[in-house]
Amino acid sequence: MAYLQTDVTKVTTRVLQNMKLHGEKIAMLTAYDYSMARLLDSTKIDVVLVGDSAANVMEGHKTTLPITLDEMIVYATSVVRAIDRALVVVDMPFGTYQGNSKQALASAIRIMKETGADAVKLEGGEEVLESISRILTAGIPVMGHLGLTPQSINKFGTYAVRATEADEAERLLHDAHVLEQAGCFSMVLEKIPAKLAAQVTKEVKIPTIGIGAGSEVDGQVLVLQDMLGITQQFKPRYLRTYGTFGDDIANAVRRYISDVKNLDFPNEREQY
Ligand code: KIV
Repeated sequence: MAYLQTDVTKVTTRVLQNMKLHGEKIAMLTAYDYSMARLLDSTKIDVVLVGDSAANVMEGHKTTLPITLDEMIVYATSVVRAIDRALVVVDMPFGTYQGNSKQALASAIRIMKETGADAVKLEGGEEVLESISRILTAGIPVMGHLGLTPQSINKFGTYAVRATEADEAERLLHDAHVLEQAGCFSMVLEKIPAKLAAQVTKEVKIPTIGIGAGSEVDGQVLVLQDMLGITQQFKPRYLRTYGTFGDDIANAVRRYISDVKNLDFPNEREQY
C-alpha cells in the first residue's frame, strides 16, 4: 500500500504535520531496547516512543513513577542507536519537569544531548506550561500528553477513562489549546471518550495521537509488548493484539529446555 510519507528518509515533526494536513494516519509504538527498535525501524513505523511505560514493562514497577532520568537515558540511547528513519520521542520521567521549569529544561537538555533523540514528551496541560515553554526556548520539540496521565495516578487513584464529565472534558479541551499555543508539535490523548478526542483533533492544528481515544485522531500509539501479546495480564478494551508472542516465547523456551534435557541439543552439526 502506498502512503504519502513512505519515501521520507527521516520522519521529522514537519513530516507529522504534513501527515495531518493530508489525512495520513501516524503510527507510533514504544520501544526501550536496540533489538526491538531496529525491527520497528525496518517496518517504516513513523514514531518510536521511549515511554516511561518502561517502568512497567521493563522494570516491573506497578506505576511509572519510580523510573529515573538516568534509566530513561539508557533506554533511549539504545533505541536511538537502532533508528535511522522514525522520529524518536523520549518520555520525561516523573519529577524531572513538574513545578520547576529550570529543572525541566536541564532534564530535557540531558535527554537530547546524551541520547540523540528527536523530541521529548511530558504529561499535563496548563500546570506544566512554564516547563514546556522553557524547554521550547532551547529548540527542543515537545509532545504533550493529556487525558489519562499515568504519572498522576496517586492524584486520581484509578486508570479508568478520563474526561467523561463535562467539566473535565472542557478542561482537557482548554489544555489541548494551551499545548498547541505553547508550541507543542503533537499531543497524546490517552483513554478519553472518542467524541472528545475527535473534537480536540478537529480544533487543534497539531497532530493528535490516541491510545484508547477512538479512531478520529491523527494517529495511534500502543505499548509494543501489549500489542505483541507479550504482556500477559493487561487487556484493556482499547488494546488490539497482533500476535501471541508471549505464548510463542514460552513455547520456544520449553522446547529448548526439553532439547537440552533430552540431549537433543546440540546435535553433531551444531558443534565444532
Ligand atoms: O509511556 C508510554 O508508553 C506512553 C504511551 C502509552 C503513550 O506514554
